Amino acid sequence: MITTRRSPRQLIEGEGALAAVGPLAAQLGSCALMIVDPAISQQPVYGRITAGLDAAGVEHATFTGVRPEVPIELVAQAAEVAQQHQPQALVAVGGGSVIDLAKAVGAVVTHGGEPRDYYGENQVPGPILPLIAVPTTAGTGSEVTPVAVVSDPDRALKVGMSSVHLVPAFSVCDPAMTHGCPPAVTAHAGIDAVCHAVEAYTATVRPVGWREVVEGVSIGKNPVSDRYAREALQELIPNLPRVVEDGDDHVARAAVMRGATAAGISFGHAGVGGPHALQYPLGAATKTPHGLGVGLLLPYVLTANRPAVDLELEELAACVGVDGDDPADAFISMIVELLERIGVPTGLQDIGVERSSLRGLAELAAGVTRLLRNDRGDTSVDGLERVLDAAWQGDRRVLT
Ligand SMILES: NC(=O)c1ccc[n+]([C@@H]2O[C@H](COP(=O)([O-])OP(=O)(O)OC[C@H]3O[C@@H](n4cnc5c(N)ncnc54)[C@H](O)[C@@H]3O)[C@@H](O)[C@H]2O)c1
Ligand SMILES: [Fe+2]
Repeated sequence: MITTRRSPRQLIEGEGALAAVGPLAAQLGSCALMIVDPAISQQPVYGRITAGLDAAGVEHATFTGVRPEVPIELVAQAAEVAQQHQPQALVAVGGGSVIDLAKAVGAVVTHGGEPRDYYGENQVPGPILPLIAVPTTAGTGSEVTPVAVVSDPDRALKVGMSSVHLVPAFSVCDPAMTHGCPPAVTAHAGIDAVCHAVEAYTATVRPVGWREVVEGVSIGKNPVSDRYAREALQELIPNLPRVVEDGDDHVARAAVMRGATAAGISFGHAGVGGPHALQYPLGAATKTPHGLGVGLLLPYVLTANRPAVDLELEELAACVGVDGDDPADAFISMIVELLERIGVPTGLQDIGVERSSLRGLAELAAGVTRLLRNDRGDTSVDGLERVLDAAWQGDRRVLT
């Protein structure tokens, strides 16, 4: 069996790490383009990054016109700023939306064309302008993944590009960047990371040879993704409720950030499954945050996928210290309690979904085969509609 590991050239984690940004940028050249979340650009913590770049002698231009979910026209706007300044590096300071935008900008600035030229797996022809990722949310794992997700008005659903060339060159994960995250952003980003780890751990095992790891990106459940999924959940499960309830709990903030990055490494190899596939059309229809959607769906997909995923759920239950007569069910119940505690709604009714729309949503989700090949449940339109209907009712027991 072949395995693979993909990661930034250097990943620097922990309180104080952001002092590394200036010196790392200086290693890459004398001019950097900063792509910055507007919610961050006014915070003192951002001033520490720009001061570090100044001290390292790195000139910097700034693009702050970022919006969540990455509308595709932003790529051309930011690429134009890059053309004016000819930077040798990109520095993304923000949540998943900002880091994903920077990845798409890197692809376009380096290889020309438009973002749509790079949709799908392995369409980026070679290395891109080096990217330093500085996440300000603890969730998506984009700082370590080979993935960027954007919104294209020509497509009903969000679209992904995945390529090893989109793994950032350097990632600087300083939990101080997340200290100002409001509770809802903290909850939604954090539960997204929980989903990444659980979906990767319960993904399909596929035969993998050198061709799959070179010509493909997501390879299904594997020993590397398993190890990081376990590590991620050990950090996330006890600490996510703490950071939602008390954003000043810096010890828990650091743990959640480590967990989110580990979950990113996990799914960056395995890929994600049902909850993410269903969230594509659901997110487009409801405009709800990505993490809220995947988190809401997770218990329903796991319940529907039993007994195929029982062994993995039992292993995860043991890993996070959950037990019961039926450990797989106890693990799902623990996730349900976690969702409740961090304020994720229980049912699709609660986020304004009409029951009559479920069939159409299932039909759209059934087309997301890139993710559904990782799902061990019934991924037919009927099967997906059944999961959505249970989620609509807010009752996972109807699936048992
Ligand atoms: N590339 C990947 O591997 C990957 C994985 C999962 C999700 N995603 C994508 O990432 C996006 C979601 O990213 P996200 O959850 O990090 O949220 P986000 O980047 O969309 O940000 C959400 C909101 O939080 C604000 N914000 C961010 N950091 C803040 C801080 N420190 N203080 C105050 N406000 C802050 C932003 O301004 C924004 O309004 C989606 O587009 C999703 O599809 C990408
Ligand atoms: Fe996600």
